[in-house]
Amino acid sequence: MTDTKSILEERLTAAYATISPGADPVLRGSDRADYQSNGALSVAKALGRPPREVAQAVLDAAALDDLVEVAEIAGPGFINLTLKTSFIEGQVERAASDARLGVPVTTTARVVVDYSSPNVAKEMHAGHLRSTVIGDALVRILTFAGADVVRENHLGDWGTPFGMLIEHLIDVGETQGVEALSVGDLDGFYRAARASFDADPAFQDRSRARVVLLQRGDAETLRLWRLLVDQSVAYFSTVYERLGVLLTAEDVMGESAYNDALPAVVADLDAAHLLVRSDGAACVFPAGFTNRENEPLPLIVQKSDEGFGYAATDLACVRDRVDRVGAGLLLYVVGADQHQHLEMCFEVARMAGWLPEGTAAIHVGFGNMLGADRKKFKTRSGGVVKLVDVLDEAMARATAALRERSPDLDGAVIEHRAAQVAMGSIKYADLSTERIKDYVFDYDRMLADRGNTGPYLQYAHARIASIFRKANEAGHKPGPVVLAEDAERNLAMALLAFPEAIVATLEDYQPSKLCTYLFDLAQQFTAFYENCPVLIAPDEAVRASRLRLCSLTQATLARGLDLLGIPAPDQM
Ligand code: ARG
Repeated sequence: MTDTKSILEERLTAAYATISPGADPVLRGSDRADYQSNGALSVAKALGRPPREVAQAVLDAAALDDLVEVAEIAGPGFINLTLKTSFIEGQVERAASDARLGVPVTTTARVVVDYSSPNVAKEMHAGHLRSTVIGDALVRILTFAGADVVRENHLGDWGTPFGMLIEHLIDVGETQGVEALSVGDLDGFYRAARASFDADPAFQDRSRARVVLLQRGDAETLRLWRLLVDQSVAYFSTVYERLGVLLTAEDVMGESAYNDALPAVVADLDAAHLLVRSDGAACVFPAGFTNRENEPLPLIVQKSDEGFGYAATDLACVRDRVDRVGAGLLLYVVGADQHQHLEMCFEVARMAGWLPEGTAAIHVGFGNMLGADRKKFKTRSGGVVKLVDVLDEAMARATAALRERSPDLDGAVIEHRAAQVAMGSIKYADLSTERIKDYVFDYDRMLADRGNTGPYLQYAHARIASIFRKANEAGHKPGPVVLAEDAERNLAMALLAFPEAIVATLEDYQPSKLCTYLFDLAQQFTAFYENCPVLIAPDEAVRASRLRLCSLTQATLARGLDLLGIPAPDQM
């Protein structure tokens, strides 16, 4: 089906075209009316005519009678549109009978989403939580919009630390080492390796020699390296499973996957006369990147010791995503602190012709998770907060709250429901803030069932599920929508805005927009529910209509939450 905004847009575009071909109606939701078109202002400017006159000409040319009740010109030349109730009712019916809830397929592009991307034998930190949660939501939303999404977990699985890690594995013995990693003590393992490295020059020598063996592809060294990678991936997978994210071991496309492609990166950049030797290192100087002294910044592709760096890998990775994967869009869900690195890689890839025109590479950056002290989220001793500890804590709090509220519930039920609330609150707290901003991680706030929180939305969903349990018992069924009360109409308009919310979210890969939409929908539902009795409605037709509104609200909340990777419980 065609969504409400698009229908209006189409009619208005035709009307604007009679005055200025190709003009954009600039249609958006408004406080003044259901929609407002601001296109007349720029058309008027271009034509040198008074904007209100242009707006009037648009309205004269527009065929809106079946859709619009009131169309009026306001202010400097806005067109305010109030929709006909019959049109809204029809659109609600259409959305209710559509498996996609009125959301059109808006893309078929193949999109690579680079997200999570933790480092082998290192604990996942808060930044990885953010990347995982934001990336997963974008994967789900893009897929729903019609994209062919390829998930890639760009694991940090290569580089000099592996010399030290492998030597440490040999020292503690494979069995013990593997055991330590499998219980998830990645940081402990890493720290112990680091300690040996710092304390023992002989260990340092062994580690360096081991790096050389690893790079040469020595079979035994590779076997030990694989062991570290596999153990870490197995551990990461348990975290993904707990978090309910879509990533699996099959999505791993680590740095090491590009090793064979690195020499060609350098050779091809050289052949394209883009390489500059600077202090022995092979660099590219992409235009537009300078340091504080206004000197051009190099992207180091190969170090003076011949080793390839992080940038070379990312360049090979861009080529792979374009050439092998065939992606038309590359998204990098990576912390804001890597912005310059990524932008420089993208620019070099463009210079080299690896990122063709029309293929966008976009850094979907995000800010820091902060502790209550507004400093970077750390443990009391200043260490990295283990992601699983965060999940455990949220889980403990959600369990305690539920136990207090419903002491008679079965233990397994409590655990199931608490897990839904815990995951929902952590994810929603992250997704609902504009991603580029830092946010304070606060258990009490995110677990609250009031305000813009995950549990608030989950409650709205569960409440409707409960209405339907009762309606089913009494044999009441949804029927044709008739909008009489303001609260009904407002809820209907909120429901019809779902497609727009998806489009807006994907405009700048901002899941917070979908959150804001769902929060507004839940609030409209609350207002409706308080003003419009459903089960004890005055008559059968009104009850059926309200049940239809309830049912579409429930479906929209469930779909919206699912797109955020958040469970929509029937009972809480
Ligand atoms: N492993 C990196 C880290 O932990 C993130 C990788 C991001 N992706 C990329 N293509 N560079 O910081």
